[in-house]
Amino acid sequence: MNKDLQLREEINKRLEQVRTKKMKDPYRLAFHLTPPVGLMNDPNGLVYFKDKYHVFFQWNPFGTKHTFKAWGHFSSEDFIQWEEHPPALVPSEWYEKDGCYSGSALTHQGKLYLFYTGNVRTNNGGRESYQCLAVSEDGIHFEKQGPVIELPKGYTSDFRDPKVWREKDRWYMVVGAQTESLEGTVVLYSSLDLLKWKLEGPLAGPGISMSNKFGYMWECPDFFSLDGKDVLIYSPQGLESQQYQFQNLYQSGYIIGSWNRQTKRFEHGKFQELDYGFDFYAPQTFTDNKKRRILIAWMGMGDEQEQNHPTVQNDWLHALTIPRELRVKEGKIYQRPINELKTLRKSHFEASFNLVHEQKEIDIYTQLQEIMIEINKFDGKELSLHLQGNWKLTYFKDQGVVTFERMRFDRSEKETRKCLVETVKHIHILQDHSSVEIFLNNGEKVFTSRFYSESTCTHCLLSVDGSAALHWQNWDLDSFCF
Ligand code: FRU
Repeated sequence: MNKDLQLREEINKRLEQVRTKKMKDPYRLAFHLTPPVGLMNDPNGLVYFKDKYHVFFQWNPFGTKHTFKAWGHFSSEDFIQWEEHPPALVPSEWYEKDGCYSGSALTHQGKLYLFYTGNVRTNNGGRESYQCLAVSEDGIHFEKQGPVIELPKGYTSDFRDPKVWREKDRWYMVVGAQTESLEGTVVLYSSLDLLKWKLEGPLAGPGISMSNKFGYMWECPDFFSLDGKDVLIYSPQGLESQQYQFQNLYQSGYIIGSWNRQTKRFEHGKFQELDYGFDFYAPQTFTDNKKRRILIAWMGMGDEQEQNHPTVQNDWLHALTIPRELRVKEGKIYQRPINELKTLRKSHFEASFNLVHEQKEIDIYTQLQEIMIEINKFDGKELSLHLQGNWKLTYFKDQGVVTFERMRFDRSEKETRKCLVETVKHIHILQDHSSVEIFLNNGEKVFTSRFYSESTCTHCLLSVDGSAALHWQNWDLDSFCF
């Protein structure tokens, strides 16, 4: 039997064996994409093709570690009703034998093209990486075309995650890279036919567009124009943690500026993080049929807590974030949940509160919640929202700091993430069974995190140290349909 078929049969067997375990898991998510079984990491190949949104993802169906990597596949017409498909790519060929790694999708002349990295481990413990192409007519079955780019001189084999787009008569590709002097960077290619690629050189990085080293590897680059600016998103590894920045093991963020299409020079501002929570990495964006720039990220982190997620016992791990629409305003990216998610809203509660040094309990009847708070006036020190047993968000007005607290997965202690926000006027929260995404000031700052509580929380505690006039709304939410 050929290797491709053999792997697909093994995956099907595995799905039959363990899928029901996940369905019974109290922490399974209701309106997030999760792996059918096994481990999910980066979103891949986000694209609108033949009237459907396609979301591919890094998938190890055989376990919850980063060993085997195929491309899993979901599609939807509306981001609410999802269909699960057979894996788009399984690592069956010599040039991808140790993983069909991350990449992107595009549509051209009625076909869907996937560019991805073929990861190969060599006998002496080294690595080879190939940027590969696979093409499909129906968006479900893909024909592999093999490698189109081999490792260029000057870089280590940590060279991966191609993102391809078109401008005028040309295709461009950015690839995440590490130079031979172990510095993170992004490399640009161009092509007229998607098959032959010309190396244009580094697009950004130390010695190119910044003076100092900024991490040892940049993963998952994405380059696009939005609201008159050019934006490069990437996930740098190796940044030192600071009080209000780079608090996770790996980061994801962006630089904004202007890219001169003739000289290929990219002049940009400083790196800004996309998210301040515990579980956000390797985001990817695409434009849809409504011309929106939509971002989805891996709602996870490959850190020392990875195998402590209780879902591992039920043979699944991690999820993708909700889709978020991006806008650029005053040099910053703003992220907002896409409008389609409003169709998940069920019963609604709304009230205005004037609180003076007090705590207000608000009943919530399900873990699936959307909460929106407008802070019309706040004189005081602290304002916090506590979903007991779950997590706590606190705004320290004098310091201009917001903190997010959750219990460590091994339940040994609480842990905190922080970010600087001058004034908080608006808080928008989407909570699933074991995840929460918090958007401050219409998406100026975001916290994305998983949490695992042992009891079901039935109320929120709103506490004000000072006086505050707030408008509160919350909705019980529905689940995605499969
Ligand atoms: C990011 C990443 C990518 C790689 C993929 C492998 O999380 O390390 O750089 O292509 O995951 O699963």
